[in-house]
Amino acid sequence: MYYIDEELKQNILSEAPSDEPARQLFFIEECRKILSERAEELKRHLTCCVNTFGCQMNAKDSEKLLGILTQIGYVPVETEDADFVLYNTCTVREHANVRVYGRLGVLKHSKDKNPDMIIALCGCMMQEEQVVEKIRKSYRHVNIIFGTHNVYMLAELLFDYLCTGINRTEILKGTDRIVEELPSERKYPFKCGINIMYGCNNFCSYCIVPYVRGRERSRRREDILREIRNVAAQGVIEVMLLGQNVNSYEYDFPGLLEEVCAIDGIKRVRFMTSHPKDLSDDLIRVVRDNPKIARHIHLPLQSGSSRILKLMNRKYTKEDYLDLAFRIRQNIPGIALTTDIIVGFPGESEEDFIETMDVVEQVRFDSAFTFIYSKRSGTAAAKMADQVPKDVADERFGRLLALCQSCSKEQTLKYQGTTGEVLVEGTNAKDPSYLSGRLSNNSIVHFKGNSGLIGKMAQVRLDEAKGFYYTGTLL
Ligand code: 5AD
Ligand code: SF4
Repeated sequence: MYYIDEELKQNILSEAPSDEPARQLFFIEECRKILSERAEELKRHLTCCVNTFGCQMNAKDSEKLLGILTQIGYVPVETEDADFVLYNTCTVREHANVRVYGRLGVLKHSKDKNPDMIIALCGCMMQEEQVVEKIRKSYRHVNIIFGTHNVYMLAELLFDYLCTGINRTEILKGTDRIVEELPSERKYPFKCGINIMYGCNNFCSYCIVPYVRGRERSRRREDILREIRNVAAQGVIEVMLLGQNVNSYEYDFPGLLEEVCAIDGIKRVRFMTSHPKDLSDDLIRVVRDNPKIARHIHLPLQSGSSRILKLMNRKYTKEDYLDLAFRIRQNIPGIALTTDIIVGFPGESEEDFIETMDVVEQVRFDSAFTFIYSKRSGTAAAKMADQVPKDVADERFGRLLALCQSCSKEQTLKYQGTTGEVLVEGTNAKDPSYLSGRLSNNSIVHFKGNSGLIGKMAQVRLDEAKGFYYTGTLL
């Protein structure tokens, strides 16, 4: 179709710079030339759709991928009948994988109708060898596969595919490389995530992340601050500093937070995720003393049983966690504590589970993400004896969820009737005369207002607490 001949390809390749990001900018331009010719032939724009599964890290990678695709000339659309469809996948739990396979089946039909369609897969799931094998064997309509370490290479891989029409897989096992200064297309003009580090060294025994995202690499402080100054100059007022464990950021995380708060235009600073084993008193002090830092700490508990925590390789006990949570609540008035909890970890007994319930009862989390343990091959826990039967895990999950919901409700009730500052994020999907946004403590607020307020801070009275959100009145 729009494949170019081997000689021309070799000529172009011989001119490609070897340094990054120059090399990728070169391939962006080459892809743009090939595809603009194709768009002219078709007498229409070529479209792209990037679909993200999983966490904030993936969402951030997707903004980079969309940045590259739009520079190439693709017009982003929401629907998957696009000319370039990319799934940025997650593999933290088995369920995420199942969804991707299901949707790939559906995509096959769309591709049969549109021969120009290119399908690409990237992200955490692609770092697993058996997944890539299965896709190459049974899902041959997937054209480009790459992993978490070479997101920046999308244009180079696409160029190769456009030249040859041969499916291309390029997965790096690991990297110590961080490529800066590539384009990025932000989902919101007023808020964005900022990577401060990549990877994870903790090897919690249930978790696949260290295997698919590699070892910890911290970005240099100057690079982070320069990126935030740039986005602030473009109108971003809220940033979220991202890392699997921001507290092990190599160049002083509390100090970095203070510097971010000092950047002109930045009104709110969030961060995610904190590992309880490394959350320092210094960080608690910095959050307390900087009103720009959101009143929210996400502090994954995982289990309340010291015995299970040891098997999970979390490196803290129930008592350590409780002590930390109380110190945070005591020192930072108005702070919301949220968490992640896994039920049904191998060997979890009813007594262990009761310890988890006990921590939730004592800490009274503002919000909790609760998960049923999912066995991930290659992790230490996958080999443990005593996998908990599904019906037992389901039953515990139900009890935990009910308790967490009642804690959330109780926490939101505390602030009913008070006034808070909301960053307005958009209109309400169900009723467009309503706006929706978030308080500093991450609670969601819906209130009547004009869409001109989107992207701005608004003072809102929190009239009624509705479980995990509020309805309010604009002041
Ligand atoms: N099974 C269930 N939940 C998991 N998480 C990570 N790995 C697993 C797994 N194998 C949860 C943890 C983590 C969150 C992002 O996902 O609670 O904090
Ligand atoms: Fe997974 Fe533990 Fe690393 Fe979080 S800290 S990404 S749960 S290994």
